[in-house]
Amino acid sequence: MDKPFSPSCERNREPILAVLRERFADRRHVLEIGSGTGQHAVHFAAALPRLVWQTSDVADNLPGIRQWLGEAALANTPAPLTLDVNLPLPAERFDAVFTANTLHIMGWAEVQRLFAALPGVMQPGALLTVYGPFNEKGQFTSEGNAAFDAQLRQGDPRRGIRDFEAVDALAAQAGLHLLEKRAMPANNRCLVWQRRAG
Ligand SMILES: C[S@@+](CC[C@H](N)C(=O)[O-])C[C@H]1O[C@@H](n2cnc3c(N)ncnc32)[C@H](O)[C@@H]1O
Repeated sequence: MDKPFSPSCERNREPILAVLRERFADRRHVLEIGSGTGQHAVHFAAALPRLVWQTSDVADNLPGIRQWLGEAALANTPAPLTLDVNLPLPAERFDAVFTANTLHIMGWAEVQRLFAALPGVMQPGALLTVYGPFNEKGQFTSEGNAAFDAQLRQGDPRRGIRDFEAVDALAAQAGLHLLEKRAMPANNRCLVWQRRAG
């Protein structure tokens, strides 16, 4: 099997890493949801060796992630977990959760399930960082995002760019409060929430 490759990961990994260097500076154990190819994991785990970076994704993506992790042979990337937000999440708790470009790929019902389940994998005080495109007050933030949304919905009507406010409402219901909404290149955002300390 050819190693999967995502060009967008190469473009966005440095701006995301800059956020993680700040936000995850005092973290130890990160759960990544929807790791995709595994490229982000390899890049971030190599740059942030104090972290244990736990990848996960639906079963079909695990062979590709294993290839990326195997070639990089880092000490801080355990074997990927099978994680589908439609099924119970792992019993383990982490002090940080990261996910990139997943909320517009999951259907809205799946996004709701994910946020409802997050407290089960987040220790009190844990951080959640989400990267991707978001609408603001129901409006696209660029023509490029509007075109991307149309393309997503044409491919699968359950997909689409999410409203920041709707996602933040789910986070609040899950006991997470917003620390930061950072503008990123190409009209993306990094959203950082924290689970209440308990
Ligand atoms: C556009 S890819 C992003 C991959 C990677 N995070 C990146 O930024 O390149 C969307 C990811 O969401 C994952 N995903 C979609 N539905 C999911 C679900 N129900 N549970 C967990 N992951 C899911 C996909 O398998 C895929 O890895």
